[in-house]
Amino acid sequence: RRWAHNIPTFSHLNSVNEEDIAHFSSILAPTSILSTLSSVSTPADDIAPYNVDWMGKYHGQANSVLRPRTTQQVSEIVKYCAQRKIGIVPQGGNTGLVGGGISLQKEIVLSLGAMNNVRSFDPVSGVLVADAGCILQSLSEYIAPHNHIMPLDLGAKGSCQIGGNISTNAGGLRLLRYGSLHGTVLGLEVVLPDGTILDQLSTLRKDNTGYDLKQLFIGGEGTLGIVTGVSILTPPAPQATNNIFLALPRFDNVLPLFQTVKRQLGEIMSAFEYIDRTAYDMGLQHGLGPLLSADEVGDSQCFVLVETSGGNQDHDLEKLNNLLESLLTADEPLINTGVLSQSPTQFNSIWALREGLTECVQKEGKPYKYDVSVPLADFQNVVDAVRERMISKGLYGDHAISKVMGYGHVGDGNLHLNVIAKHGYRPELEAALEPFIYEIVAERKGSVSAEHGIGSMKRDALHYSKSEISIEWMRKVKQVFDPLNIMNPGKVLP
Ligand code: FAD
Ligand code: MLT
Ligand code: ZN
Repeated sequence: RRWAHNIPTFSHLNSVNEEDIAHFSSILAPTSILSTLSSVSTPADDIAPYNVDWMGKYHGQANSVLRPRTTQQVSEIVKYCAQRKIGIVPQGGNTGLVGGGISLQKEIVLSLGAMNNVRSFDPVSGVLVADAGCILQSLSEYIAPHNHIMPLDLGAKGSCQIGGNISTNAGGLRLLRYGSLHGTVLGLEVVLPDGTILDQLSTLRKDNTGYDLKQLFIGGEGTLGIVTGVSILTPPAPQATNNIFLALPRFDNVLPLFQTVKRQLGEIMSAFEYIDRTAYDMGLQHGLGPLLSADEVGDSQCFVLVETSGGNQDHDLEKLNNLLESLLTADEPLINTGVLSQSPTQFNSIWALREGLTECVQKEGKPYKYDVSVPLADFQNVVDAVRERMISKGLYGDHAISKVMGYGHVGDGNLHLNVIAKHGYRPELEAALEPFIYEIVAERKGSVSAEHGIGSMKRDALHYSKSEISIEWMRKVKQVFDPLNIMNPGKVLP
């Protein structure tokens, strides 16, 4: 298989100049334009956050950022950029982990953050219609008084936007229960790369009137158009939620445990998350937990968080208590120990340990993050193989890669393999990791991106998970929507 990190060049695109800014000033209020060009002279510090991703791994070169307030404004901006051949990078909350929302050269950043109104909510159907720039957590808070929840939840909820979630087809912690955005999104409003507004903001549950175009923008990573409005089905809040945290003596027990838990909890199981020992210890070092005493944990190799969401607290608690008891009293117990949350505070701290891992990783150093789908039975040997490789290359230890760990959404077959470079990113570390990891994933017929997307990080690794024919048809789709290649150029497609 081919492997090369090609740095794309955009000779077909123009940089933003003073005249362009003057034109944008006829569309937008002055406060909606940030630019280092002299007519605006935004301080570099104000533009900087739009030019670096959450990890500090990808650095952009945009000299201008536009923050439209309406779909009409987005449309006019895009129309102009198409005429002038200016590249556009749509940006939401900038929490993406694959460098998709950062400009590669001088493309303009179009930030959706100022489009943040709820358009409607129907408490009977649970359909929420909102601007793309609404922050996920704000939407959760908006519908909470109506006893509804968002069908997705992720650690980045306080910053990520619903338009960004849709554009990355974010998975997260509730996918096991409510399915992917391909099912819960009912409609989208999208500004296409020529500036046309595609209004498919349907609130219908069922609509089989031909090709379902909106699906292309779910996970489109801003390469086919700019999502400006979203219609999404929100489920009723469960009457009872509980969670348990289990310590397992060895990884081999995870699969049988998953089967046992599914069988015993049935319809009330809503999450099944995995944390390996390295990740757990790291969480503890950074002040998460402890959920269990050190004696109880002993030499447990890994941990599992199970959440239930059901209709009756007594019924669910009885099921969970029976589950714990049967696990602990089995002839050959699958777990060393476990704890059932006894209060909302404890429920939250169990979740905090799992959700907080991403931030802990960030505090440890600079992370190489691989978000892969592989068969569940292979989770641990993938992590071990990477650690062994770094050891064999003399790159393991505080001087180079200080930690290799795995956590993730076991219930969805999604492993987050995190490799921490204690003192920062270095080309020789990346060269030891890639394409090695992508090859391991391909050997297992997995996916090089389970939920974070391709962005610019995995553009050249796409072929490890997609056939030549698939890539060829993806290119054709891109060509149909964006023949000028102005929309998030250099992302997704090699
Ligand atoms: P951005 O980072 O701004 O953009 C992401 C991509 O979408 C870019 O390619 C951008 O060009 C495009 N884009 C953004 N908005 C639009 C729009 N309106 N129209 C068109 N294109 C657009 N991801 C998961 O899947 N599951 C998780 O559990 C999860 N947990 C996370 C936890 C933390 C702490 C962090 C930092 C990230 C996590 N992520 C997770 C990754 C990230 O949060 C998600 O991918 C999120 O959906 C990105 O949303 P955003 O608004 O920040 O998008
Ligand atoms: C998660 O599940 O925690 C997120 O996808 C972020 C990460 O991979 O760290
Ligand atoms: Zn995840």
